[in-house]
Amino acid sequence: MEHQQTPADQQPPAKKPLFTRRRAMGVIAGASAACVADAFLTGTRWLSVTRKDVVCPAMGGSLDGLRVGVMADIHHRPGKSAGILQRAVERMLAEKPDLILMPGDFIDQDGTDAAPMMRTLSKLQAPHGVFACMGNHDGWTQSGFKLRSGFEKLGFNFLINAHTRLSIRGEPLAVAATDHIWLGHPAPGRTLAGLPAKIPVLGMVHEPDFFDEFIQHRPISLQVSGHTHGGQCQVPLVGYPPLLPQYGKNYVEGIYEKDNSRIFVTRGIGTSSLPVRFACRPEVAILTLRAQG
Ligand SMILES: [Fe+2]
Repeated sequence: MEHQQTPADQQPPAKKPLFTRRRAMGVIAGASAACVADAFLTGTRWLSVTRKDVVCPAMGGSLDGLRVGVMADIHHRPGKSAGILQRAVERMLAEKPDLILMPGDFIDQDGTDAAPMMRTLSKLQAPHGVFACMGNHDGWTQSGFKLRSGFEKLGFNFLINAHTRLSIRGEPLAVAATDHIWLGHPAPGRTLAGLPAKIPVLGMVHEPDFFDEFIQHRPISLQVSGHTHGGQCQVPLVGYPPLLPQYGKNYVEGIYEKDNSRIFVTRGIGTSSLPVRFACRPEVAILTLRAQG
């Protein structure tokens, strides 16, 4: 049988493989560009509201259901952080928390024009008070005393190595906050001095890793902290970046429990260093305290 040869110029063109190295590089480059764009453009603005129950057995039964709003790490930059802060305040107010805790880093690098931030924060209110403490950036920029007097004019409590006692639904409760840890002057003994053991304590310490030392002095029903920004840029399926800040390496995000004490670390609202977030949305948190699980 005779086979006829088809001339080369009449043969159908060879099919290109679907997945070539060049195409793979293109996909990777495109995905990387999309991630970078997302980190700069969307990641810093896409505010989330986290709602969690926290079981604090030392709480009196009347405190069951107490709703604590947490908002940290505003990192105010004049002219740049107004939008996300405005939305955070609106979302917080819409949640109607019983009290609001703001554990520090109000200022980023320059505390000379904090007036726009203070105007926005002045809208915050809660039936049992609004409380704040120092963050390391507030200390480093020497903004602390100005912030404290500004907040006190608004009727907020700005606590530095101090506590205040509340009575909520007939139950005692204390809010206690140290100075910032990183180059600050934290004095946990002074912060908690004179508090009877039976009074449950809500603690505020900007840098979360101080939790281990704070609870050496007495159980803390719930410490709230910020500082880590949840890593600020997380890697999906991998987790937190290797470069976490000093005093923010052990407790990075969410709730942890140790020795009859608990800590909640918020991802916060703003950013430090580069204004980027990836897979780590800014956060307003509402924690509902439960006397029993
Ligand atoms: Fe911060």
